Amino acid sequence: MDDKKPPGLYYREYLRLDKILDAQELESEKVGKPAHDEMLFIITHQTYELWFKQIVFEFHEIIRILSSEVVEDKKMGRMLHLLARIKTIQRVLIEQIEVIETITPLDFLEFRDLLVPASGFQSIMFKRIEIMMGIRQENRIASDCAFFKTRLSYSDQKRLAEVEERPNLLELVDRWLQRAPLFNIGGFNFWESYSQAVEKMLDSDARIIRDNRTLSDKDKQFQLAEVENTRKRFESMLDEDRYNELRDAGELRFSHKGFLAALFINLYRDEPLLYTGFRFLTLLVDIDSLFTRWRQRHAVMVHRMLGTKIGTGGSSGTGYLEATTKKNRVFLDLFNLSTLLIPREDLPPLPKQVRKELGFFFRGDE
Ligand code: HEM
Repeated sequence: MDDKKPPGLYYREYLRLDKILDAQELESEKVGKPAHDEMLFIITHQTYELWFKQIVFEFHEIIRILSSEVVEDKKMGRMLHLLARIKTIQRVLIEQIEVIETITPLDFLEFRDLLVPASGFQSIMFKRIEIMMGIRQENRIASDCAFFKTRLSYSDQKRLAEVEERPNLLELVDRWLQRAPLFNIGGFNFWESYSQAVEKMLDSDARIIRDNRTLSDKDKQFQLAEVENTRKRFESMLDEDRYNELRDAGELRFSHKGFLAALFINLYRDEPLLYTGFRFLTLLVDIDSLFTRWRQRHAVMVHRMLGTKIGTGGSSGTGYLEATTKKNRVFLDLFNLSTLLIPREDLPPLPKQVRKELGFFFRGDE
């Protein structure tokens, strides 16, 4: 029978609500032991999946923009807007964990065993986000890698392998940074001036330690050794060969040129021309931090829910989640940049010509 409805687009049909609202099938009902909280468990997961889908959608657009050889100012603005949107969604994702926490561990036990061997690990949308951001198989812990093969269907494995073959955000950001003409601009060798400023700062730190009468000789030795370690760290980050050794060992992901450009942008972010780039890099760090915060929050919730029991997907449970929280971070190079920052007053001033040339950077011209 024809359903009589007002003319024009109809809310229920537009949103395909018949599909969405009919997509909650309780396993506990199927076995004749309905568990009230399973409905909330399903709806929370489905809500997450929809938000993950939106994040993937936004990353697609960001990756598309960044893939072009020249990223114009206008496009930069759009990217910042989309990254800020992802951040807002992430905050909702973190907040939402409280909803699932209203299921008590005892109530969870009413249906937990029925879920085996399904697991959040099989969330293809979540894994897709990780891959799009820049996590590759070689960056994962062994069990995370192994689960791709043992816990995912063949078609899901294939789909994720395809995503992994495409350029990811980290690679594209690195390429964008490498294109920045920030080196030896206008005959001004920034890195030489910067190294001198760093040496000056470290010499002054060492002097303060030596002159400090409240420190014992042993404490002084210890603190001076720390200053020397920092000096070595600075040197290896500025020396291309030593940097590349650390990169080959998996400690760094950006190219040397990309890393230096990111450092330069961070140091001179007060220059109006570099501010957009600085906002861009900051948003990437924010998004990476918020994913880590979501993982930590999820791991704590899981600990509360399961104690030390294993996960339905067969992992060690909380132990596995703590390990992926630590390992699955993308823009660590940008976090570690802070080690190399020096006070504003010690920064080599930029010559006028350099400022002028920097104007071309965000218009995309080389
Ligand atoms: C009662 C609530 C929950 C429990 C007890 C729980 C438990 C777990 C456990 C133990 C794992 C590790 C893999 C395994 O052995 O299964 C895991 C992974 C995961 N869970 Fe949950 N989870 C819960 C809710 C959620 C929710 C609401 C989401 C949102 C989509 C979610 C998303 C994920 C994701 C994406 C992973 C993979 C993480 C990674 O590989 O690093 N979980 N979960």
